[in-house]
Amino acid sequence: MEMEVVKKMLMSCCCCLMLAVGSMAAIEKSGNVSYDATSLIINGQHKILFSGSIHYPRSPPQMWPSLIEKAKQGGIDVIQTYVFWNLHEPKQGQYDFSGRNDIIGFIKQIQSQGLYACIRIGPFIESEWTYGGLPFWLHDVPGIVFRSDNEPFKYHMQKFVSMIVNMMKSENLYASQGGPIILSQIENEYQTVEAAFHERGPPYVLWAAKMAVGLQTGVPWVMCKQDDAPDPVINACNGMRCGETFKGPNSPNKPSIWTENWTSFYEVYGDEPYMRSANDIAYQVALFIAKKGSYVNYYMYHGGTNFGRTGSAFVLTSYYDQAPLDEYGLIREPKWSHLKELHAAIKLCSKPLLTGVQKIFPLGELQQAYVFEGNSGECAAFLVNNDSRKDSTVLFQNISYELPRKSISILPDCKTVAFNTYKVSTQYNTRTMTLSQSFDSVERWEEYKEAIPDFGKTSLTAETLLEHWNTTKDETDYLWYTFRFQHNSSDTQLLNVQSRGHVLHAFVNGKFTGSAHGSHDNSSFTLENTIHLKNGTNDVALLSATVGLPDSGAYLERRVAGIHRVRIQNKYFINYNWGYQVGLIGETLQIYTNPGSNKVEWSKFRSPSHQRLTWYKERILLH
Ligand SMILES: *[C@@H]1O[C@H](CO)[C@@H](O)[C@H](O)[C@H]1NC(C)=O
Ligand SMILES: *[C@@H]1O[C@H](CO)[C@@H](O)[C@H](O)[C@H]1NC(C)=O
Ligand SMILES: *[C@@H]1O[C@H](CO)[C@@H](O)[C@H](O)[C@H]1NC(C)=O
Ligand SMILES: *[C@@H]1O[C@H](CO)[C@@H](O)[C@H](O)[C@H]1NC(C)=O
Ligand SMILES: *[C@@H]1O[C@H](CO)[C@@H](O)[C@H](O)[C@H]1NC(C)=O
Ligand SMILES: *[C@@H]1O[C@H](CO)[C@@H](O)[C@H](O)[C@H]1NC(C)=O
Ligand SMILES: *[C@@H]1O[C@H](CO)[C@@H](O)[C@H](O)[C@H]1NC(C)=O
Ligand SMILES: *[C@@H]1O[C@H](CO)[C@@H](O)[C@H](O)[C@H]1NC(C)=O
Repeated sequence: MEMEVVKKMLMSCCCCLMLAVGSMAAIEKSGNVSYDATSLIINGQHKILFSGSIHYPRSPPQMWPSLIEKAKQGGIDVIQTYVFWNLHEPKQGQYDFSGRNDIIGFIKQIQSQGLYACIRIGPFIESEWTYGGLPFWLHDVPGIVFRSDNEPFKYHMQKFVSMIVNMMKSENLYASQGGPIILSQIENEYQTVEAAFHERGPPYVLWAAKMAVGLQTGVPWVMCKQDDAPDPVINACNGMRCGETFKGPNSPNKPSIWTENWTSFYEVYGDEPYMRSANDIAYQVALFIAKKGSYVNYYMYHGGTNFGRTGSAFVLTSYYDQAPLDEYGLIREPKWSHLKELHAAIKLCSKPLLTGVQKIFPLGELQQAYVFEGNSGECAAFLVNNDSRKDSTVLFQNISYELPRKSISILPDCKTVAFNTYKVSTQYNTRTMTLSQSFDSVERWEEYKEAIPDFGKTSLTAETLLEHWNTTKDETDYLWYTFRFQHNSSDTQLLNVQSRGHVLHAFVNGKFTGSAHGSHDNSSFTLENTIHLKNGTNDVALLSATVGLPDSGAYLERRVAGIHRVRIQNKYFINYNWGYQVGLIGETLQIYTNPGSNKVEWSKFRSPSHQRLTWYKERILLH
C-alpha cells in the first residue's frame, strides 16, 4: 500500500559519507548507566541519543519488529514507551501481560534489534490514554487522592512500580544487567498540577523520587516537566520547542534531556489535523543539541491506534498518524528521511559535542554560531539563523554560508555543511488505499435493534440521579437513565436535560427524540428537544454515553459525567424515582463475536432504519 517514493540523489560528498556512517552506527553492549553534565554514560561512554516513542499496546505485536527496525534505520537509538497500568491490572490483583500487553516481549524485541529502551512507568502517564493509565478501581479505594502525599495512593503506586521494576529485573532487562533499559521515568509532568495539591504536592515529589531510586535499577530516573526533580533524578523537558524553552538541568552534573518532542499532536473529535513540518522539528532538535542537549525523544515516532476503549475522553482512535511512522507503520515522508539525515549529521559531530568546549559567536543580529572544539583539533559547528522572515548570508571562519530563514546548518568539521534543517531533500509521499473487499451488498446485512429499557424492568433504581462513572465502574461506556410519569393531556412539551458528559440520546415512549454531546474542551452540554406526550403514562429513557475517561489535571478521582438535571416544561425530575441499566444488551451478550451473535434474533436489514441503536452485521469470510 505504501507508495514508493523516488528520493532525490544527495549530491554532496559529505552527505554520502554521512549516510554511510549513519547506517553503520551500531549500539554497543549495555552496561551500567550513569550521567554527568554532558550526557548519559553507558558502559563508560558518553552518548548523544535519539529516541522515539512507540507504545506497545497501540500496535499489534506482529508489527513490533518492523516498527523497531524502521526506527533503527531512521537513526533512532532508543525506543521509549510508557507502562500502561490499567491494561496490566484492569481489576485489582488480576494481571494481564498477554498479546498487546506483553511489555516484556516488546522490550526483548527492542533488545534483539540492538536498540536501547526507556520505560516511563509513571504510573500516571496521561498519554491520551483513558484515566491517564490509572486503573479505575483506584477510584473506589477509600480516602484516596491520586498523585499526592496520600497513603492509599502511595501504597498502590509503590506496589505497581515495584512490580514492574522487579519484572524487568527478573528478565535481566536493565542495562546494568546487560539488558536494553538505560533510563526510566517516575511520575509525568507533575509540575503542571502540583500547586493544586497545596502542601500535599512537594512531599509527594520527594517521596516518588526516593521510592523510585530505592528500587535500585542501576540506571537513572527522569521526571519530565519537573524543574525541581530531586537528586539524583534528572529533570527533563517536554514540548515543541525545548531548544528555545528549556531552562536546563537543575544541577550542574545532570545532562540535558528532552523526553517529548512532539512530532505532531494528538487529535480530538472535531479538530483539524495538526501538521508539524519536518524542518520545524529538525530546527528544534538541532538547536537543542547545539545548546548541549544530548538526548532527544520524538513523541511519537509511531503513534498507532487507541484500540477498544483505551483512548481518553474525546480522543480519536488514530494516534499521531502524522508521526515519522504513520498509524499503519508506513514511512511518512519527508519527515522520516529528513530526521534520519539530521541524526546522521549530528552523530558525525559526536566527538566534539561530547568532549569539546562550546563557544557561541554572534554572526549577525539574529544569527549565531555554536562551535564545539576538542583538544585534538576536532571541531563541529551549528550555524543558526533565528530570523523567521529572511534568509541570511553569514561569514563563519572567513567562509560565507547561506542560511535559509529559521534554519540551522550543521558543519561536522566546522567547514562543510552536512545538513541544513530547512532544506528538505526528500519528496513528500502519499498513502494510497486499494479496495480489497466491499460490504455494500444490502442482502447480506442483518440487523438487531437494541431494546430501549422499560422503566418498570430496570434492576437498579435510585431516588436520585446517579453519577455516570460511579455507576458503570468503567465496565461500559453506556448508562441508561429512565423514569415514568403521568401526564393528563396529549400535547407537545420541551425536554431539557443537562449533562456533565459526554453524549446523550433521548427516547420518549420508545421513540428517538434527539441527541447532544460535549467536546474535549467542555464535556458539559444541554439537550433540548420538543417531545410528544401522551395523556396517561409516559416513559422517558435517556442513554448517557462516555467516550473515554479523562487523562489530565489534578483530582482525576473526582471527575464526573452523566445527567444532573432533567426538566420537562416547568417540572424538574431530579430527586425522583429513576431506573438504571448499565451497558447495552448487545454489548453484554458480545453480539459482535461469533458465539454472542448466535444469542439474539437477527432480522433482515431494512433501509432506511429510523430506529437509533441498531446493530448491523454481515458474515464475511476472511482470507
Ligand atoms: C556495574 O557496576 C557494578 C558496581 O558499581 C560493578 O560491580 C559491575 O561490574 C558493573 N557492571 C558492568 C557491566 O560494568
Ligand atoms: C516538540 O516539537 C513540537 C513541534 O515543534 C513542539 O510543538 C513541541 O512543543 C516540542 N516538544 C517539546 C517538549 O518541546
Ligand atoms: C529566536 O527568536 C525567538 C523569537 O522570534 C525567540 O523567542 C527565541 O528565543 C530566539 N532563539 C534564539 C536561539 O535566539
Ligand atoms: C581570516 O582572514 C584574515 C585575513 O583575510 C586572516 O587574517 C585570518 O587569519 C583568517 N581567519 C581564519 C579563521 O581563517
Ligand atoms: C459513588 O457511589 C457510592 C456508593 O455506591 C457513593 O457513596 C458515592 O458518594 C458516590 N460518589 C459519587 C461521586 O457520586
Ligand atoms: C393537568 O396537569 C397540569 C400540570 O401537570 C395541571 O396544571 C392541570 O391542572 C391538570 N389538568 C387536569 C384536568 O387535571
Ligand atoms: C385524558 O384521559 C382521561 C382518562 O382517559 C380523560 O378523562 C381525559 O379527558 C383525557 N384528557 C384529555 C385532555 O384528553
Ligand atoms: C460548558 O458548557 C456548559 C453547557 O453548555 C456551560 O454551561 C458552561 O458554561 C461551559 N463551561 C465552560 C468552561 O465553557
